[in-house]
Amino acid sequence: MTARLLARRGFLETALVGGAALLLPRWPVLRTLGDGARSRLADSRIDLLLDEPIATIAPEIYGHFAEHLGGVIYDGIWVGENSKIPNIGGIRKALVDALRPIKPSVMRWPGGCFADSYDWRDGVGPRTQRPRRNNFWSDDPAFRTLGNIPAKFDPNAFGTSEFLHFCRLVGAQPYLAVNLRSLPALAFTQWLEYCNSPAGSTTWSDVRAAAGDRDPFGVRYWGVGNESWGCGGNFTPEEYASEYRRFGVSAPEFGVDLQFIASGPNGGDLEWTRRFFGAMAERNGLDMVKGWALHHYSSAGDAGADAVAFDPRGWYDLVSSCDRMEGLITSHWQEMARADRGHRIKLVVDEWGAWHRTAPVADPAHLFESQSTMRDAVVAGLTLDTFNRHADKVAMANVAQLINCIHSLFLSHEEKFVTTPTYHVFAMYAAHQGARALRSVVSTPPTSWQAKDGTPRSQRGLNCSASARDRQVTLTVTNPALSEGRTTEITLRGGTIRLVKATTLASADVHAVNTFERPDAITPTLAEVAASGQSVVHTFPPASVTRLDIVLGA
Ligand code: AHR
Repeated sequence: MTARLLARRGFLETALVGGAALLLPRWPVLRTLGDGARSRLADSRIDLLLDEPIATIAPEIYGHFAEHLGGVIYDGIWVGENSKIPNIGGIRKALVDALRPIKPSVMRWPGGCFADSYDWRDGVGPRTQRPRRNNFWSDDPAFRTLGNIPAKFDPNAFGTSEFLHFCRLVGAQPYLAVNLRSLPALAFTQWLEYCNSPAGSTTWSDVRAAAGDRDPFGVRYWGVGNESWGCGGNFTPEEYASEYRRFGVSAPEFGVDLQFIASGPNGGDLEWTRRFFGAMAERNGLDMVKGWALHHYSSAGDAGADAVAFDPRGWYDLVSSCDRMEGLITSHWQEMARADRGHRIKLVVDEWGAWHRTAPVADPAHLFESQSTMRDAVVAGLTLDTFNRHADKVAMANVAQLINCIHSLFLSHEEKFVTTPTYHVFAMYAAHQGARALRSVVSTPPTSWQAKDGTPRSQRGLNCSASARDRQVTLTVTNPALSEGRTTEITLRGGTIRLVKATTLASADVHAVNTFERPDAITPTLAEVAASGQSVVHTFPPASVTRLDIVLGA
């Protein structure tokens, strides 16, 4: 049976345990159950421990990343003030309108690898006088036949002030990635002056004010280098630590609580973490580090490399590869403790996402772009749940990348614009921002499949995270199985349930995508159930992401 046929069995069933009425607009099964019926019905359990908070979920976990790469900036964010495409000061209006409701807490820019080749001074002052520069990605074979497009030769129309205006428009804090490989520390000090020094104090603050921004921007987050073991300079950890200190020592604060983020390892390279922390500690430099960056891209083998035409093995290869995030977080966290016993330094997963074979949707200049299906939505749900469960360790995360690229929330070309299933996951999970993460205990049969060589493989059958705020608990659950729904008894330990609202993202066809012509092929559905007692039974459909809003009883 194909994945498509299997997924057609999708259903949602919410039943009340020892309670009252139900209201379900789709796939309804209305039942009030006694204890015997409950245990017969459920194959899984989730216990939510109200009295065991983990930490506050940093809103910054729900952050984004926009690099000067392919169609992210030009055609994605920036359309220009004189464009016929509706815009706010040159920024695509549809993007601003779609971002605001999902509370994009933080936005990383201008790279990625691009950052370590970028001179921020090229992107300030009058736009007509800005230079055109070779883009870091210009030699990609995908660009060979494409002429002098902005993705190859950056016109610098979108620079620091344009980016900071974009952040203001959508309500995100800016996170600037500093060029450590090809600019000296002095250029960084001057970038700080441009962004944060009071009007009239420095020449760079005058340049900012002349462009219309008298008040400083007060940028807090600064990434010092990117992938410094690779495109960011190919340094050893000790070399990187010594470069880092040039940037960290006596950076002017201008009254801002600066947060410097250091470039972490290549995946699971614990030696990079151990040696950087060791080298910094040796020079009493750890105080210059507030965040330790991790990057992890999920990818599937040959059966799943195509973003849309994957087979069941391609589905499982991808959704299981994102499970690696948990181990990366815990292993690096443990390693960091050797030098930072009190865990003053937190993890910043400033690049994560599902990376498929490039397949531009409407414009060949959109490097690394591909469509998104429920498979990508499930990766997003699994990953965000992992961050929530480690809210005591993860201070920020940035999905790569915002628009027209890897694991994007949006696709656009000229006046066309659409949101992907991943966008809906971010909208659903926004409720966790700033809430208290709760410990949860999941018992569920594993999801199993066969690897290419026939080896049996399995992963957790259900994945979830929970948080509480006031009298409400938010439970998000991902079911990665292609064919099995999971009927689950959810029990509140330490409270009672009054009402449950379910928001479900699922599709009868796991290969379906939202297109410019059919933008709502995959959108969430809503259901509501009145309840009483401690437990509720809910069926999580196959290949789905669900949010349950649980209103607590008195
Ligand atoms: O997100 C694309 C690229 O992936 C980034 O520029 C780089 O940091 C990473 O290797």
